[in-house]
Amino acid sequence: MSFDVSVFSNKNIILAVTGGIAAYKSAILVRRLKDYGFNVRVVMTQGAQAFITPLTFQALSGNSVHTELLDTAAEAGMGHIELARWADLILVAPASCNTIAKFANGLADDLLSTLFLATKAPVWLAPAMNQQMWAAKATQRNLQTLVEDGVHVIMPSSGSQACGDVGLGRMPEPEELAEQVQLYFHQTQRALAEKFGLLAGKRVVITAGPTREAIDPVRYISNHSTGKMGFALASACYTAGAKVILIAGPVSLDTPNGVQRKNVSSAVQMLEQSMQQLHEGCDVFIATAAVADYRVAQVAEHKIKKAGDELQVELLKNPDIVATIAQQPQRPFMVGFAAETQNVEQYAAGKLVAKKLDMIACNDVSRSDIGFASDENAMTVFFAEHYGLEKRDLEKASKQEIAQQLVEAIADALHHA
Ligand code: C5P
Repeated sequence: MSFDVSVFSNKNIILAVTGGIAAYKSAILVRRLKDYGFNVRVVMTQGAQAFITPLTFQALSGNSVHTELLDTAAEAGMGHIELARWADLILVAPASCNTIAKFANGLADDLLSTLFLATKAPVWLAPAMNQQMWAAKATQRNLQTLVEDGVHVIMPSSGSQACGDVGLGRMPEPEELAEQVQLYFHQTQRALAEKFGLLAGKRVVITAGPTREAIDPVRYISNHSTGKMGFALASACYTAGAKVILIAGPVSLDTPNGVQRKNVSSAVQMLEQSMQQLHEGCDVFIATAAVADYRVAQVAEHKIKKAGDELQVELLKNPDIVATIAQQPQRPFMVGFAAETQNVEQYAAGKLVAKKLDMIACNDVSRSDIGFASDENAMTVFFAEHYGLEKRDLEKASKQEIAQQLVEAIADALHHA
């Protein structure tokens, strides 16, 4: 099955490892979860650390490993309550009969059992133990209690065990567990979309408007972008159930209902704000901004005085915001725009590849009836090759209607991922 890691880049998994020989499989499980794009933090019980070291999990997850409940250093970083809130899913693999017993009885004498009580996230258990311990009445009774409490239990498989026994109690293979987790999030996303809109549960960041590049305290270089397309998209994404952050250059438009707005002026500020939003979590990044290609190398501290017939101003290339975000390791689904005056589709297709975008919407700004300051637009949308989606022509329509069609195109591509 092909997938786009960006779909899960905003999903946080706590992998809790408890004492059991199957703990060695959990190291591979971290890798597989990361392959799907999940953020993974590992919690280990004392028992787990007898089988495998925290260092292994730290290296594989890219995050420090959580082992202590009452450790001031750990609590100063991400304490147990923050961890409990951070998680979108807690997967306990392997789950020992001791941990199962603690969960079933509400004990809170170590980090993991406390997390179990403190989280609202779904908790999944992948029990792994000797077949006799699995069959023990107390274990089965505890599991029954947990299932009734809403905990999801992944049945162990049968086969030869490390202890020499043969029977039920083997932890499923890491590939299988990771696949179940990603299927769960796919299904959850689909159910959310059906109930709350095409982009339900997604965090969408949109850049809009022009940038303003100062020459001196009173003058600047800018362009004619009004921000209308980006603002219309922000509104459409919000209506489609997304949480929307709109990074706006200087424009005179009202903030759309429900949208969180961050005002910026220059391209450098727009990039800084975009990176910050990426770190706070971003599933879809839409770059509608008409970013100035160049900025003034040395902004004058005071107003430049008229003198002579010529004024030389040195310009430096601005960073490419959308291309920079597309290069980040946990990149979101990337949407770019191309406004061209000739060879429109050819240039757009080139930009899709060059900037490593997932989707690009292009329009012909040489036409006075669409584009920049107009209230209407007509666009052609291209998708990155691996989505296997045909290009789409969006007929001339209001920017609101075009925005709605773009949201549908984004949602389609996300579902083809
Ligand atoms: O290269 P060009 O400006 O034609 O590319 C247009 C696309 O790239 C738009 O999506 C625009 O928002 C984005 N872009 C950017 N940062 C730049 C230049 C363009 O994000 N410095």
